Formats: sequence, C-alpha cells, structure tokens
Amino acid sequence: MARETWATRMGFILAAVGSAVGLGNIWRFPFITSQEGGGAFLLLYLLFVVLIGFPAILVEFVIGRYTELNPVGAIRELGSGAWNYLGWLFVVTGFVTLSYYSVVAGWFLRYTLIGVTDGYALAGPEEANALYGSVTTGLDSLLFHAVFMALVIGIIAAGVRRGIEVGVKVMVPAIVVLLVGLAGYAFTLDAAGAAYAYYLTPDFGYLAANWTSILPAAAGQAFFTLSLGMGVMITYASYLGEDRNLAADAGIIAALDTFVAVLVGFVVFPFLFAAGIEPGGPGPSAIFVSLTSAFAGIPGGRVIGIVFFAMVGIAALSSAISILEVLVSYLIDEVDVARVPAATAIGVAVFLLGVPVTIDLIFLGLYDNLAGGVLLVLGSLLLALFVGWVIPDVARNELEKGIGDLGSLGIAWIWIVRIPIVVVVLVSLYLG
Ligand code: PHE
Ligand code: NA
Repeated sequence: MARETWATRMGFILAAVGSAVGLGNIWRFPFITSQEGGGAFLLLYLLFVVLIGFPAILVEFVIGRYTELNPVGAIRELGSGAWNYLGWLFVVTGFVTLSYYSVVAGWFLRYTLIGVTDGYALAGPEEANALYGSVTTGLDSLLFHAVFMALVIGIIAAGVRRGIEVGVKVMVPAIVVLLVGLAGYAFTLDAAGAAYAYYLTPDFGYLAANWTSILPAAAGQAFFTLSLGMGVMITYASYLGEDRNLAADAGIIAALDTFVAVLVGFVVFPFLFAAGIEPGGPGPSAIFVSLTSAFAGIPGGRVIGIVFFAMVGIAALSSAISILEVLVSYLIDEVDVARVPAATAIGVAVFLLGVPVTIDLIFLGLYDNLAGGVLLVLGSLLLALFVGWVIPDVARNELEKGIGDLGSLGIAWIWIVRIPIVVVVLVSLYLG
C-alpha cells in the first residue's frame, strides 16, 4: 500500500501546530515559569525558542521529508553504525512521554466534567487540594487516563488524513478561539493590570543568581514545547510528499506555539490575582489547585472554568496523537503491521506504562524528569550532531528544496546546528 500523505499544506501545518500546542504550554509552562522566577525565565525561554528551537525544527523536517520514513527507518537510511540507535531513543522517549502525558490530560477531562456536574464552588485552598488529590490518584485518574488514550487511539487508527488531519482542523482553531476569548475576559478583570506587571517584569538579579537552574529548565521547555526530540516533526514531515518552504512552516509553528504559551500567562495570572491567590505555588498541582480556587471566586467562574479545562483537554489531545503516530509509523513502516492493530497495541502498552502515575504521583516526577528532562534533550543533541556533522550537505540541499539557494543562510543554519544547539544541550545536561 502506498504510504499516506497530507491532503493539504494547511493540514500539515495544523497538525504540527496541534502537536506543539499542548500541556507544555498550558500546564508545564506556567508552573516551570513560577518555579524559575517568572520574567527572567520567560526571557531565556524565548531566546532559546528563536535561536535553538526554530533551527532544530528544521533539522527534524529535512530528515522526515528527505527519507519519507519513520524516525528509526529515516536515521538508518541516512546513517550507519551506532547512529541506528538514535531512532530508537526517539521511540523510547515518545513511549514514556505519552504515558504520563495521557494521565495528566485525563485530569483536565475530569476537571471539565466536575465543572459541568458540580461547579468549582470550593470553600478554600484545602478543598481545592483535596479535590486535586481525589482527581489525580486512584480509580478516577485511571479511568480518565483510559478515556483519553481511547480517544488518541481512535484518531490515530483512522489514519493521517481521516484521523489526524480532520481532527486538527477542528481542534486547533477551537483552541485558539477559546484561548483568545479567555484572554479577553481576563483583560476585563480589575486585577489584570497587577497580574500583567507580575508576569512581565524580569528580575535580572534573580537571573544572575539562579542561571544554573534557569538555563536547563528553559532549554528543556523550549524543546518540549516545540515537540522536539521524539521524532514527531520527522514523522509529520515524512508525510509531505512534495517540496515546499519548510522554513516558513517552521516559523509559523514556532510563532504560534510561543504565542499560545505567552497568552496562557495573560489568562492564568489575572484569574489568580482576581481571586486574591498568590501565584507561584510550585509544582504540577499549581494550575489545578489555584485555578479551581480562582474559578470559585470570579464572576462567571464556573463557565470560564469549564471552557478553560476543556480547551486544555483539546490541546493535549492534538499533541498526544502526534506521539502515538511516531510509534505507529514505526510499526507500519518497519514491521509491516496494519494501522488499526498497530495503534491499538501500542496505545494499550502506553496506557499500561502510565498506570503507576495514576497510583502515585512520585512517578509523574520520575517520568517527566527522565523523558522531558533528559531523554528529550539528549535526542535533540544527538540529532543535531548527526545532521550537523555527518550529513550536512544532504540536509542543506533538502532545506533548499522549495526555498531556493539559501547561500550563506544555509551555511549559518548548519553551523547553528553544529555548535550552539550542542553547547546549550550539553551545558543543560551538565547543570540539570
Ligand atoms: N509540544 C507538546 C506540548 O507542548 C508536547 C510534546 C512533546 C508533544 C513532544 C509531542 C512530542 O504539550
Ligand atoms: Na508546546
């Protein structure tokens, strides 16, 4: 059977944006920003997205489009010897990441439902904490993890065009519309001014004193939020089937992902300030506990809360499908398994790997530190070394297809891949 391709250019871009925009922007970004000191972290993160993230997206794109293969097959075709293991690293990272990503996404589904059935009228932070505890552990967590994985499997089983492409054409516009609506509402709150000031003021003294922890966090977040280091962008670009301007596409994707992350701050912080809640509660629980308290205290909070949690659930879904697609494309290309059984079997395996996270939150930190903190940057580092030093000419030629002769810009790209990306990741791994 002929390998699938995207039906339209828009389909590819929306799929990649859908992958990029997810829990990384809405759940991980705010709590890491507050852990790492706010504005100072924001600044470094933005710098890394532009200088490292954008060139790194192109690295994955050219490999995918050139080989028209899954990450394992793609790297085997281009490299030899020990490089073959690199494709496997992507697969393992994706496997671990999706397992906990789905559990957390399930919590957002649960919180959406709580808004519908009961609302968020909680007596105070203790009740909000207790609710978080009951949602995130035990049967509730397991059930919604299963529901979420079932949705992911369903979309991926339906295929590139009928599943992913159709799905993202609905999901991505919905995310943007809901988020812009929420930001508009947040803007009308009296507390908005103070909230924006808190969010946007970088503390350079703090940056100078804490850069050893801010730098690895900002680099890791830049890779995570752009869906790098797991072969997602390789896989999605492998379905292109035609040459067009990959740099323009990568620019749109990075810009939209960053826009969403920054806009989330314009939503979350006014909500917290309006309800008189101290921002910067550290850790993964922050956004749930403080926001449910906030929704209890602002006008129209119940509806706003439902819209917010549902939006996050949709964003998580359009990201999770991209990770499962990496694993499924491997089985289809390399092992010749049909799409539906491949999606089902891997989806169930991912579900099982996520079960410990539903039992004890210790595993959430463990999985996130391993996959999001180490494996993902390691994969990006090795891929940069591979493309920059082993196949630079193939890569540059491929990038120029659909753009034209880039001249010194193309050479500059290779040198960014060769040195700055590698240095930033090595320093991050050393410090982190
Ligand atoms: N970029 C996604 C987010 O921000 C997470 C993700 C990482 C998805 C890697 C796919 C691959 O939520
Ligand atoms: Na993201």
